[in-house]
Amino acid sequence: MTRMYQYRLPFLRGELADLPERLTLKDLMPLDHYHYCGTAAIDLAIERLKVTPESQILDIGAGVGGTARYLAQRVGCPVTGLELQPQLCQMAGELTERTGLSERVKFIQGDILEGITGQFDAWLSLLVFLHIPERKTLFSQCAAVLKPGGRFYIEDYVQLQPLNPKEQGTLAQMVACPELPFIPAYQQHLEQAGFGHIAWENVTPLWQDWVQQRLMQFQHKQEHYRQKHGDDLVQSYLNFYQAVADLFSGGNLGGVRMWGQLLP
Ligand SMILES: C[S@@+](CC[C@H](N)C(=O)[O-])C[C@H]1O[C@@H](n2cnc3c(N)ncnc32)[C@H](O)[C@@H]1O
Repeated sequence: MTRMYQYRLPFLRGELADLPERLTLKDLMPLDHYHYCGTAAIDLAIERLKVTPESQILDIGAGVGGTARYLAQRVGCPVTGLELQPQLCQMAGELTERTGLSERVKFIQGDILEGITGQFDAWLSLLVFLHIPERKTLFSQCAAVLKPGGRFYIEDYVQLQPLNPKEQGTLAQMVACPELPFIPAYQQHLEQAGFGHIAWENVTPLWQDWVQQRLMQFQHKQEHYRQKHGDDLVQSYLNFYQAVADLFSGGNLGGVRMWGQLLP
């Protein structure tokens, strides 16, 4: 996990050096979004979770908080972000302070597998569960943080066809993703934890294009980035973006959006 993210904070700090102290969300995008398809992905989550200004929302695996800030600003609701890695959690708090959203957006450093106190109207989790193979504990903790009837929304990796050993190795070593379910098993794990009314959407073609575009845009700006951030950091990004683009283009790795409710 740490290996996957160790270059992200130095890059973010380097980019922040050119930005004013007081930040808008637009200044930060896409720097503070570690999921795919930017704010469009969050807009869809807001719709499917039926978020209102009164909703109490939990963002599981909040990264540096881009999702939580956007959601709170767009809808006006309070959002709590839970983030495992202390440095990312601290950065999430700093960026939130600098965007003037600290009243509505809070971050807790912790592991979803250990649970958190409090109950929420809904949670979302964008590209986080691929890092967590302990699905039974994961989804029972995810159920415990929801009020009865509360809603959830997930974006995640899945296997569409069996991953070959090379793909499994790349996922484990470069993406900190040790194993992945197929969609029916995923749904079953959620049901076993008490979730129901589950719907899902296969977003593999969308993500195949998006990760390819991300790679090409980074390659296009690589000379600029090399001068600013140094060769090692840029090479880490290129390797990671290339590996993910290759994995998706192989057709065995897929992307899914899933949403539903905790049954009363
Ligand atoms: C790909 S990033 C996505 C971040 C964020 N959801 C976003 O869209 O920008 C995955 C995040 O999940 C966090 N994470 C992984 N396992 C976690 C766990 N067990 N509990 C809480 N956070 C976790 C990682 O530290 C990382 O910040």
